[in-house]
Amino acid sequence: MDDNFLRLEKYLADKKEVIDKHLDKYIQVKGPSKIWESMKYSVMAGGKRLRPVLSLTTAELLDFPIENVLPIACAIEMIHTQSLIHDDLPGMDNDNLRRGKPTNHVIFGEAMAIIAGDALFAQAFNLIIRETPKSVKPENILKAIYDLSIAAGAEGMCGGQAMDITIEKSNEEIDSAIVQYIHTHKTGAMLRTSVRSAAIMADANPEKIKALTSYAENIGLAFQIVDDVLDVVGLTEDLGKTIGKDQKSNKATYPRLYGITESMNMAENHVNRGINDLLIFGDKAEYLILLAEYILKRKS
Ligand code: IPE
Ligand code: IPE
Ligand code: MG
Ligand code: MG
Ligand code: MG
Repeated sequence: MDDNFLRLEKYLADKKEVIDKHLDKYIQVKGPSKIWESMKYSVMAGGKRLRPVLSLTTAELLDFPIENVLPIACAIEMIHTQSLIHDDLPGMDNDNLRRGKPTNHVIFGEAMAIIAGDALFAQAFNLIIRETPKSVKPENILKAIYDLSIAAGAEGMCGGQAMDITIEKSNEEIDSAIVQYIHTHKTGAMLRTSVRSAAIMADANPEKIKALTSYAENIGLAFQIVDDVLDVVGLTEDLGKTIGKDQKSNKATYPRLYGITESMNMAENHVNRGINDLLIFGDKAEYLILLAEYILKRKS
Protein backbone atom coordinates (compact mmCIF):
# COMPACT_ATOMS: atom_id res chain seq x y z
CA MET A 1 0.00 0.00 0.00
CA ASP A 2 1.71 3.23 -1.07
CA ASP A 3 1.76 6.46 0.92
CA ASN A 4 -0.60 8.25 -1.43
CA PHE A 5 -3.22 5.56 -1.06
CA LEU A 6 -3.02 5.73 2.74
CA ARG A 7 -3.26 9.53 2.61
CA LEU A 8 -6.32 9.26 0.39
CA GLU A 9 -7.94 6.69 2.70
CA LYS A 10 -7.58 9.12 5.61
CA TYR A 11 -8.92 11.98 3.47
CA LEU A 12 -11.93 9.88 2.41
CA ALA A 13 -12.66 8.82 5.98
CA ASP A 14 -12.57 12.44 7.20
CA LYS A 15 -14.84 13.66 4.40
CA LYS A 16 -17.22 10.72 4.86
CA GLU A 17 -17.64 11.67 8.51
CA VAL A 18 -18.66 15.23 7.61
CA ILE A 19 -21.04 14.00 4.91
CA ASP A 20 -22.64 11.35 7.13
CA LYS A 21 -23.20 13.90 9.89
CA HIS A 22 -24.92 16.27 7.48
CA LEU A 23 -27.03 13.59 5.81
CA ASP A 24 -28.26 12.50 9.23
CA LYS A 25 -29.12 16.10 10.10
CA TYR A 26 -30.77 16.84 6.75
CA ILE A 27 -33.12 13.86 6.77
CA GLN A 28 -35.21 14.64 9.83
CA VAL A 29 -38.34 12.60 10.51
CA LYS A 30 -41.27 14.89 9.79
CA GLY A 31 -44.27 12.59 10.16
CA PRO A 32 -45.58 9.27 11.41
CA SER A 33 -45.21 7.36 8.13
CA LYS A 34 -42.70 4.50 7.73
CA ILE A 35 -41.35 6.38 4.73
CA TRP A 36 -38.78 8.23 6.86
CA GLU A 37 -37.44 5.02 8.35
CA SER A 38 -37.18 3.51 4.88
CA MET A 39 -35.36 6.56 3.45
CA LYS A 40 -32.96 6.78 6.38
CA TYR A 41 -32.28 3.05 6.31
CA SER A 42 -30.76 3.19 2.83
CA VAL A 43 -29.11 6.60 3.04
CA MET A 44 -27.42 5.84 6.36
CA ALA A 45 -26.53 2.23 5.42
CA GLY A 46 -23.08 3.46 4.47
CA GLY A 47 -21.53 3.65 1.06
CA LYS A 48 -18.31 5.25 -0.05
CA ARG A 49 -19.87 8.72 -0.50
CA LEU A 50 -17.70 9.21 -3.58
CA ARG A 51 -20.10 11.64 -5.27
CA PRO A 52 -20.39 14.10 -2.36
CA VAL A 53 -16.64 13.77 -1.71
CA LEU A 54 -16.06 14.84 -5.32
CA SER A 55 -18.25 17.91 -4.74
CA LEU A 56 -16.36 18.89 -1.58
CA THR A 57 -12.95 18.28 -3.17
CA THR A 58 -13.92 20.39 -6.17
CA ALA A 59 -14.99 23.22 -3.86
CA GLU A 60 -11.67 22.99 -1.98
CA LEU A 61 -9.73 23.12 -5.24
CA LEU A 62 -11.55 26.34 -6.11
CA ASP A 63 -11.02 27.86 -2.62
CA PHE A 64 -14.77 27.82 -2.07
CA PRO A 65 -15.96 26.97 1.49
CA ILE A 66 -17.26 23.39 1.62
CA GLU A 67 -20.25 24.55 3.72
CA ASN A 68 -21.56 26.16 0.53
CA VAL A 69 -21.73 22.86 -1.36
CA LEU A 70 -22.60 20.45 1.47
CA PRO A 71 -26.37 20.67 0.77
CA ILE A 72 -26.02 19.87 -2.95
CA ALA A 73 -23.37 17.23 -2.20
CA CYS A 74 -25.78 15.48 0.19
CA ALA A 75 -28.65 15.97 -2.25
CA ILE A 76 -26.63 14.14 -4.90
CA GLU A 77 -25.99 11.30 -2.45
CA MET A 78 -29.76 11.13 -1.77
CA ILE A 79 -30.52 10.83 -5.49
CA HIS A 80 -27.74 8.26 -5.85
CA THR A 81 -29.26 6.27 -2.96
CA GLN A 82 -32.67 6.50 -4.64
CA SER A 83 -31.12 5.08 -7.80
CA LEU A 84 -29.69 2.17 -5.78
CA ILE A 85 -33.01 1.41 -4.02
CA HIS A 86 -34.78 1.29 -7.38
CA ASP A 87 -31.87 -0.51 -9.13
CA ASP A 88 -32.22 -3.35 -6.59
CA LEU A 89 -36.00 -3.81 -7.01
CA PRO A 90 -37.27 -7.16 -8.34
CA GLY A 91 -38.39 -5.44 -11.56
CA MET A 92 -34.86 -4.15 -12.13
CA ASP A 93 -31.69 -5.99 -10.97
CA ASN A 94 -33.49 -7.95 -8.23
CA ASP A 95 -30.77 -7.78 -5.58
CA ASN A 96 -31.14 -8.54 -1.90
CA LEU A 97 -27.83 -7.16 -0.60
CA ARG A 98 -26.69 -3.53 -0.74
CA ARG A 99 -24.09 -1.68 1.30
CA GLY A 100 -23.67 -4.88 3.28
CA LYS A 101 -27.30 -4.94 4.37
CA PRO A 102 -30.58 -6.39 3.08
CA THR A 103 -31.93 -4.16 0.30
CA ASN A 104 -34.66 -1.64 1.05
CA HIS A 105 -37.50 -3.69 -0.46
CA VAL A 106 -36.44 -6.79 1.51
CA ILE A 107 -36.94 -4.84 4.76
CA PHE A 108 -39.78 -2.45 3.90
CA GLY A 109 -41.53 -4.14 0.97
CA GLU A 110 -41.56 -3.19 -2.68
CA ALA A 111 -44.21 -0.48 -2.43
CA MET A 112 -42.40 1.39 0.36
CA ALA A 113 -39.06 1.05 -1.46
CA ILE A 114 -40.57 2.68 -4.54
CA ILE A 115 -42.14 5.50 -2.54
CA ALA A 116 -39.02 6.09 -0.40
CA GLY A 117 -36.99 6.39 -3.60
CA ASP A 118 -39.48 8.87 -5.07
CA ALA A 119 -39.40 10.91 -1.86
CA LEU A 120 -35.59 10.98 -1.73
CA PHE A 121 -35.53 12.31 -5.28
CA ALA A 122 -37.88 15.18 -4.39
CA GLN A 123 -36.36 15.87 -0.95
CA ALA A 124 -32.96 16.27 -2.60
CA PHE A 125 -34.09 19.36 -4.50
CA ASN A 126 -35.86 20.68 -1.42
CA LEU A 127 -32.62 20.29 0.55
CA ILE A 128 -30.57 22.38 -1.91
CA ILE A 129 -33.10 25.21 -1.91
CA ARG A 130 -33.58 25.10 1.86
CA GLU A 131 -30.01 24.73 3.10
CA THR A 132 -27.62 26.32 0.58
CA PRO A 133 -26.07 29.35 2.36
CA LYS A 134 -27.35 32.75 1.28
CA SER A 135 -23.80 33.77 0.39
CA VAL A 136 -23.96 31.62 -2.77
CA LYS A 137 -25.21 33.63 -5.75
CA PRO A 138 -28.87 32.68 -6.40
CA GLU A 139 -28.25 32.35 -10.16
CA ASN A 140 -25.45 29.87 -9.46
CA ILE A 141 -27.73 27.83 -7.19
CA LEU A 142 -30.30 27.72 -9.99
CA LYS A 143 -27.69 26.73 -12.58
CA ALA A 144 -26.38 23.96 -10.32
CA ILE A 145 -29.92 22.63 -9.73
CA TYR A 146 -30.46 22.68 -13.49
CA ASP A 147 -27.27 20.68 -14.04
CA LEU A 148 -28.28 18.11 -11.41
CA SER A 149 -31.83 17.78 -12.77
CA ILE A 150 -30.45 16.96 -16.24
CA ALA A 151 -27.94 14.47 -14.78
CA ALA A 152 -30.58 12.63 -12.75
CA GLY A 153 -33.31 12.45 -15.39
CA ALA A 154 -33.94 10.83 -18.76
CA GLU A 155 -30.97 12.59 -20.37
CA GLY A 156 -28.74 11.21 -17.64
CA MET A 157 -28.99 8.50 -14.97
CA CYS A 158 -32.59 7.41 -15.65
CA GLY A 159 -31.87 7.28 -19.38
CA GLY A 160 -28.87 5.01 -18.76
CA GLN A 161 -30.85 2.78 -16.41
CA ALA A 162 -33.62 2.49 -19.00
CA MET A 163 -31.14 1.40 -21.69
CA ASP A 164 -29.45 -1.04 -19.27
CA ILE A 165 -32.78 -2.78 -18.61
CA THR A 166 -33.90 -2.66 -22.26
CA ILE A 167 -30.70 -4.33 -23.47
CA GLU A 168 -30.82 -6.93 -20.69
CA LYS A 169 -34.32 -7.99 -21.72
CA SER A 170 -33.70 -7.85 -25.48
CA ASN A 171 -31.01 -10.52 -25.95
CA GLU A 172 -29.59 -8.35 -28.73
CA GLU A 173 -25.88 -8.28 -29.56
CA ILE A 174 -24.16 -5.43 -27.76
CA ASP A 175 -21.51 -3.12 -29.14
CA SER A 176 -19.13 -0.51 -27.81
CA ALA A 177 -21.50 2.39 -28.53
CA ILE A 178 -24.32 0.87 -26.49
CA VAL A 179 -22.19 -0.04 -23.46
CA GLN A 180 -20.59 3.38 -23.52
CA TYR A 181 -24.01 5.04 -23.67
CA ILE A 182 -25.26 2.98 -20.72
CA HIS A 183 -22.19 3.64 -18.57
CA THR A 184 -21.81 7.34 -19.26
CA HIS A 185 -25.50 7.84 -18.49
CA LYS A 186 -26.45 5.48 -15.67
CA THR A 187 -23.30 6.28 -13.69
CA GLY A 188 -21.21 8.93 -15.46
CA ALA A 189 -23.89 11.61 -15.41
CA MET A 190 -24.16 11.73 -11.60
CA LEU A 191 -20.38 11.81 -11.14
CA ARG A 192 -20.20 14.57 -13.73
CA THR A 193 -22.71 16.74 -11.90
CA SER A 194 -21.03 16.05 -8.54
CA VAL A 195 -18.00 17.94 -9.84
CA ARG A 196 -19.76 20.41 -12.12
CA SER A 197 -22.49 21.58 -9.75
CA ALA A 198 -19.85 22.40 -7.11
CA ALA A 199 -17.81 24.31 -9.70
CA ILE A 200 -20.91 26.18 -10.85
CA MET A 201 -21.79 27.17 -7.28
CA ALA A 202 -18.18 28.32 -6.81
CA ASP A 203 -18.55 30.61 -9.83
CA ALA A 204 -15.62 28.94 -11.62
CA ASN A 205 -14.76 30.39 -15.04
CA PRO A 206 -15.68 28.51 -18.26
CA GLU A 207 -12.14 27.21 -18.78
CA LYS A 208 -12.07 25.64 -15.34
CA ILE A 209 -15.59 24.23 -15.69
CA LYS A 210 -14.64 22.68 -19.03
CA ALA A 211 -11.53 21.02 -17.59
CA LEU A 212 -13.42 19.74 -14.54
CA THR A 213 -16.26 18.45 -16.71
CA SER A 214 -13.88 16.45 -18.88
CA TYR A 215 -12.13 15.10 -15.75
CA ALA A 216 -15.48 14.00 -14.31
CA GLU A 217 -16.63 12.37 -17.56
CA ASN A 218 -13.42 10.37 -17.75
CA ILE A 219 -13.45 9.15 -14.16
CA GLY A 220 -17.23 8.53 -14.35
CA LEU A 221 -16.82 6.07 -17.20
CA ALA A 222 -13.79 4.47 -15.51
CA PHE A 223 -15.81 4.09 -12.30
CA GLN A 224 -18.55 2.03 -13.99
CA ILE A 225 -16.03 -0.06 -15.97
CA VAL A 226 -14.39 -0.96 -12.64
CA ASP A 227 -17.85 -1.66 -11.14
CA ASP A 228 -18.38 -4.20 -13.95
CA VAL A 229 -14.93 -5.73 -13.36
CA LEU A 230 -15.53 -6.00 -9.61
CA ASP A 231 -18.81 -7.81 -10.31
CA VAL A 232 -16.60 -10.53 -11.84
CA VAL A 233 -13.43 -10.50 -9.72
CA GLY A 234 -14.48 -8.71 -6.49
CA LEU A 235 -15.64 -10.13 -3.17
CA THR A 236 -19.18 -9.83 -1.83
CA GLU A 237 -17.82 -9.06 1.67
CA ASP A 238 -15.76 -6.12 0.32
CA LEU A 239 -18.42 -4.78 -2.01
CA GLY A 240 -21.46 -5.27 0.24
CA LYS A 241 -23.42 -6.50 -2.80
CA THR A 242 -23.79 -9.88 -4.48
CA ILE A 243 -21.18 -10.49 -7.17
CA GLY A 244 -21.57 -12.43 -10.41
CA LYS A 245 -25.00 -10.98 -11.14
CA ASP A 246 -24.14 -9.20 -14.40
CA GLN A 247 -23.27 -12.33 -16.32
CA LYS A 248 -26.31 -14.18 -14.98
CA SER A 249 -28.57 -11.32 -16.03
CA ASN A 250 -26.92 -10.93 -19.42
CA LYS A 251 -26.02 -7.30 -18.67
CA ALA A 252 -24.23 -5.09 -21.16
CA THR A 253 -20.83 -4.73 -19.48
CA TYR A 254 -17.24 -3.92 -20.48
CA PRO A 255 -15.89 -7.34 -19.38
CA ARG A 256 -18.51 -9.05 -21.56
CA LEU A 257 -17.30 -7.09 -24.60
CA TYR A 258 -13.58 -6.77 -23.90
CA GLY A 259 -12.59 -9.18 -21.10
CA ILE A 260 -11.14 -8.19 -17.72
CA THR A 261 -7.60 -7.12 -18.70
CA GLU A 262 -8.66 -4.94 -21.61
CA SER A 263 -11.50 -3.42 -19.55
CA MET A 264 -9.02 -2.43 -16.83
CA ASN A 265 -6.70 -0.98 -19.49
CA MET A 266 -9.58 1.11 -20.79
CA ALA A 267 -10.47 2.28 -17.28
CA GLU A 268 -6.83 3.22 -16.67
CA ASN A 269 -6.76 5.12 -19.93
CA HIS A 270 -9.78 7.18 -18.89
CA VAL A 271 -8.31 7.83 -15.45
CA ASN A 272 -5.08 9.08 -17.05
CA ARG A 273 -7.03 11.33 -19.38
CA GLY A 274 -8.98 12.66 -16.40
CA ILE A 275 -5.75 13.44 -14.57
CA ASN A 276 -4.45 15.24 -17.66
CA ASP A 277 -7.57 17.38 -17.74
CA LEU A 278 -6.47 18.82 -14.38
CA LEU A 279 -3.09 20.14 -15.57
CA ILE A 280 -4.32 23.75 -15.54
CA PHE A 281 -4.76 23.52 -11.75
CA GLY A 282 -1.20 22.37 -11.00
CA ASP A 283 -0.54 20.94 -7.53
CA LYS A 284 -3.85 22.23 -6.22
CA ALA A 285 -5.61 19.32 -7.94
CA GLU A 286 -3.79 16.81 -5.74
CA TYR A 287 -6.88 15.24 -4.16
CA LEU A 288 -8.91 15.09 -7.36
CA ILE A 289 -5.92 13.22 -8.85
CA LEU A 290 -5.76 10.85 -5.89
CA LEU A 291 -9.51 10.23 -6.18
CA ALA A 292 -9.08 9.36 -9.86
CA GLU A 293 -6.34 6.86 -9.01
CA TYR A 294 -8.43 5.41 -6.19
CA ILE A 295 -11.13 4.46 -8.71
CA LEU A 296 -8.74 1.95 -10.28
CA LYS A 297 -7.41 0.54 -7.02
CA ARG A 298 -10.64 0.26 -5.09
CA LYS A 299 -11.86 -3.14 -3.91
CA SER A 300 -15.22 -1.91 -2.65
C1 IPE B 1 -22.89 1.74 -7.06
O1 IPE B 1 -22.29 2.96 -6.72
C2 IPE B 1 -23.73 1.93 -8.26
C3 IPE B 1 -23.01 2.46 -9.40
C4 IPE B 1 -23.36 3.57 -9.97
C5 IPE B 1 -21.87 1.73 -9.92
P1 IPE B 1 -21.17 3.02 -5.60
O2 IPE B 1 -20.15 1.96 -5.86
O3 IPE B 1 -20.68 4.41 -5.48
O4 IPE B 1 -21.98 2.59 -4.31
P2 IPE B 1 -21.94 3.14 -2.81
O5 IPE B 1 -22.59 4.47 -2.82
O6 IPE B 1 -20.51 3.20 -2.37
O7 IPE B 1 -22.75 2.14 -2.02
C1 IPE C 1 -26.29 0.89 -11.32
O1 IPE C 1 -25.45 0.09 -12.07
C2 IPE C 1 -26.24 2.30 -11.67
C3 IPE C 1 -27.24 3.02 -10.87
C4 IPE C 1 -27.68 2.63 -9.70
C5 IPE C 1 -27.75 4.25 -11.40
P1 IPE C 1 -25.33 -1.38 -11.50
O2 IPE C 1 -26.61 -2.08 -11.51
O3 IPE C 1 -24.15 -2.03 -12.14
O4 IPE C 1 -24.93 -1.06 -9.96
P2 IPE C 1 -24.71 -2.16 -8.87
O5 IPE C 1 -23.63 -3.08 -9.38
O6 IPE C 1 -26.02 -2.85 -8.65
O7 IPE C 1 -24.25 -1.36 -7.68
MG1 MG D 1 -28.39 -1.96 -12.59
MG1 MG E 1 -27.50 -3.32 -9.95
MG1 MG F 1 -22.73 -3.24 -11.14
